[in-house]
Amino acid sequence: MYSFDYYNPTHISFGEGKIAELDKLVPSKAKVLVLFGGNSAKRTGTLDEVKTALGQRDIVEFGGIEANPTYETLMQAVAVIKEEKIDFLLAVGGGSVIDGTKFVAAAALFEGEPWDILLSWGAKVTEAMPFGTVLTLPATGSEMNSASVVTRKEFQAKLSFMSDHVFPQFSVLDPSKTFTLPERQVANGVVDAFIHITEQYLTYPVNAPVQDRFAEGLLQTLIELGPKALSQPDDFDVRANLMWVATMALSGVIGKGIPHDWATHMIGHELTALYDIDHARTIAMILPGMLDCRRDSKQEKLLQYGERVWGISQGTIDERIDAAITKTREFFEAMGIKTRLSDYDLTAASIDEIMTKLEKHGMTALGEKQDVDLAMSRKILERNL
Ligand code: NZQ
Ligand code: ZN
Repeated sequence: MYSFDYYNPTHISFGEGKIAELDKLVPSKAKVLVLFGGNSAKRTGTLDEVKTALGQRDIVEFGGIEANPTYETLMQAVAVIKEEKIDFLLAVGGGSVIDGTKFVAAAALFEGEPWDILLSWGAKVTEAMPFGTVLTLPATGSEMNSASVVTRKEFQAKLSFMSDHVFPQFSVLDPSKTFTLPERQVANGVVDAFIHITEQYLTYPVNAPVQDRFAEGLLQTLIELGPKALSQPDDFDVRANLMWVATMALSGVIGKGIPHDWATHMIGHELTALYDIDHARTIAMILPGMLDCRRDSKQEKLLQYGERVWGISQGTIDERIDAAITKTREFFEAMGIKTRLSDYDLTAASIDEIMTKLEKHGMTALGEKQDVDLAMSRKILERNL
């Protein structure tokens, strides 16, 4: 196992009715900007519940943060913060609203052009406004991590940044708030969390059995609960465990002291920026080809994954790896998520466009061994056409 620092300051308040705790979690004298997405927070009543919990605090609302939040919209929130002299931010929504709030928190105090936050992968962030979150969609882990992904529409660029300054101070996780999710978003969340785990787990062994077993347990939990979340949509326990598994998948804990991949995500971001396809769907259509094309360098972990997660112990090395990839693909498809580029009307010409963007964004040496060059990315995409 590699040496590491583990730092995670986010206070989690988990359970039904926990939104009421906002009164204790948000500073009493704060002037709060409540950030939310399209209409779901209003329609479902969550926004009203949040406002009630905030009591007499001075509140300003900022709605309209898109799925895959845009720099263009978020900079409007930065202007409101300055105009209204806001001193605390509260995100109410899924990964997009939370990621957007992280960017706004950093951009409001940033000297210079805030797009540099993304161009520097967060290295230029030296401070950020304090903020908390009320999570309504289990998927990204953004509620307990320091990462954010922002799209700049005019450049068709979707870039990410990380900074210790943008950990949420707290996150309220009330599983009952996820009952209103459409099936498509439930499925997206399950598959996104699954691939967050594989990005950290499916690399090469470094003698880190705690991280391995933790990751395998989370994967098995998703395999068990994902279909139940679709077939038993009113089951609170299923929703509660799904919420916690998605948070744990990307809160940092399973990824300490081990190599990481993230090539699937980096390529996926280009597909969302170009074609506006849901994040989880882009990565579901890349991962199977990714594992197939990189089966040699990932061999040991792929065999371990096949055996411990899917119970595959018979056959030659290639047969077992094939079976593990097939099981993964079948799981995504069972969640209602298609796994081939052609399922989303993408063609060989689309692959050329994706390659141009990958090159432009410097995504030319991806993966745990930085060996996913442009030629390999093309092969991966072609394999999954
Ligand atoms: O916009 P509204 O009307 O609120 O509707 C949202 C949105 O359309 C809706 N929704 C959310 N909660 C709901 C609900 N509808 C009904 N009931 C509820 N309780 O769901 C739609 C999708 O929401 P979004 O926040 O976009 O989804 P998700 O949580 O999957 O976030 C995706 C974003 O997170 C980024 C992705 O790239 C993408 O931009 N990621 C962030 C990561 C991180 N910070 O660590 C890691 C991930 O890999 C990912 O890249
Ligand atoms: Zn993701």
